[in-house]
Amino acid sequence: MPTGVENLGQLESQARAALEAAQSVQALTEARARFLGRKGSISSLLRGIGALDPAERGRVGQAVNASKQRIDEHFQARRRVLEAADQARAMERQALDVTLPGLVPPRGHLHPVTLIEREMTQFFSNLGFSIELGPEVETEYYNFEALNIPADHPSRDMQDTFFVEGGHVLRTHTSPVQIRAMSGRQPPFRFIAPGRVFRHDSDATHYPMFHQLEGFLVDERVTFGDLKGVLYAFAHQLMGPEVKLRFRAHFFPFTEPSAEMDFSWRGDWLEWGGCGMIHPRVLENCGIDSERYQGFAFGMGIDRTAMLRFGIPNIHLLFDGDVRVLEQI
Ligand code: PHE
Repeated sequence: MPTGVENLGQLESQARAALEAAQSVQALTEARARFLGRKGSISSLLRGIGALDPAERGRVGQAVNASKQRIDEHFQARRRVLEAADQARAMERQALDVTLPGLVPPRGHLHPVTLIEREMTQFFSNLGFSIELGPEVETEYYNFEALNIPADHPSRDMQDTFFVEGGHVLRTHTSPVQIRAMSGRQPPFRFIAPGRVFRHDSDATHYPMFHQLEGFLVDERVTFGDLKGVLYAFAHQLMGPEVKLRFRAHFFPFTEPSAEMDFSWRGDWLEWGGCGMIHPRVLENCGIDSERYQGFAFGMGIDRTAMLRFGIPNIHLLFDGDVRVLEQI
């Protein structure tokens, strides 16, 4: 009765030849499967053993198992060879020339608004002003009430102010920092407060978020002349000696008298901000004796200054986050 092992030797040499012929680990694994896999020819020999004459089973089983083991050892050896070859090829592909110059990572730069803001704050630090900051989500008290802006004042209108849940607002100007800084302090003092402010407004020159620089100084015998002197020096430092300033009488609830200031730019007058002498009621709201002390305050747009300096025609280009724009600056 044929046991199927008559061809074992031949099968084994076929297996060796197939393993030897494989040129990749994958081809090798496939070749192994053809012989030793679940449906492989050696495995079917093993399965056939049960049908043999019991006297034959031991011998045949041993022979097939031994053959199986030799094929597997051959497989392992061949796999080590192929893997080593793979690795050598990969190393060659990734060969690193350490003498090549490195890639210089691209370097960013500060946003134009930050650059101008720093320049502005530097000027005032040199004059001895300290920086004060306040929250962007502000109470109506600091944003309006304490600044002498009554509840029915048009600047509280929905059209300008972003109201936040819980009776707060997004600050519409940096003037609330005046109140925060002055409360609990006694003059003399001088502060600047740069920061983001928010108004419901959007076109080529307006953005719902923009930056202001607030400045205020309180002491005995402070006059509007002091205010103008500081602002002239500031404008000249920032925009050159030819720049002219113009003050137009205006109204702000928190200053008296008040003015809007413009500066000359290439033959045009451009609005820069508001200023005035701090209203006595604002000083009193902060616990400062308004008979003895006076102060001036001003607030100006930082973004507009940056736009002029860098020749940016539309404020949206500053904040839409297009790096192609920012890279040009
Ligand atoms: N807070 C005013 C505004 O945003 C500007 C201002 C500041 C005016 C300080 C006078 C004094 O329009």
